[in-house]
Amino acid sequence: MGRLIQRAACSPDALVLDLGCGAGEWVLRALQEHPTARAFAVDMSEPALRRAEGSARERRLGDRVTFVRGDAQEYRPPQACDLVMCVGSTHVFGGLGETVQALDEQVAPGGAMLVGEGFWERPPTAEALEALGAEPADFQDLAGTVETVERAGWAPVYAHISELGEWDDYEWSWTGSLTRWALDNPDHPDAEAAIAAAREHRTGWLRGYRGVLGFATLLLQRQNPR
Ligand SMILES: C[S@@+](CC[C@H](N)C(=O)[O-])C[C@H]1O[C@@H](n2cnc3c(N)ncnc32)[C@H](O)[C@@H]1O
Repeated sequence: MGRLIQRAACSPDALVLDLGCGAGEWVLRALQEHPTARAFAVDMSEPALRRAEGSARERRLGDRVTFVRGDAQEYRPPQACDLVMCVGSTHVFGGLGETVQALDEQVAPGGAMLVGEGFWERPPTAEALEALGAEPADFQDLAGTVETVERAGWAPVYAHISELGEWDDYEWSWTGSLTRWALDNPDHPDAEAAIAAAREHRTGWLRGYRGVLGFATLLLQRQNPR
């Protein structure tokens, strides 16, 4: 994460935009790496934004970021931004190519885009597709992913391909937290449902898409600078 953001090499007064920011990890990291940058971050989810605001306060970054609750497709920043991010949220724009095209107009001349997208590490199995609720055409292999970006007029200048251990950590963390909470609160009316939800997701991952779906985060630059 850090290396990708460092390589985005924003100017000191840079503006950063994060579309589908979730709990804000990417945008906050960008502000940490670029100590005078300011940011806008957009998400539909109130709980995710509350977490993001809490993290921003804890890291003393709250005065440099504006969190906006809304549809990332509709949102327009006050001016074009130097770094525009959309990590794990390309579905909002209808896919990877559509995301790159939609974000293009938000990126200032000389600016960069950071896009995170799933890809097939291996041809998807029926079990993987079922667990993800996906079709084979929803993702491409890694080379096809890069080609899609290039067709949209942008070139990868750096990338991080998530390792299996990083995926595992992500999956164990959230299914594990949910399971632990339910086991520690057996009398809570939601405890049983929480255990079942964690189990269902974990099984879909372990029997389905583990090692099949990969994740690439691409730092992009315009092929034809404005
Ligand atoms: C997989 S999360 C990625 C979050 C974050 N970018 C990250 O990498 O941690 C996808 C996010 O997209 C948000 N989202 C879904 N539809 C959206 C929309 N139309 N506008 C804004 N955010 C949306 C969800 O609330 C969720 O936080």
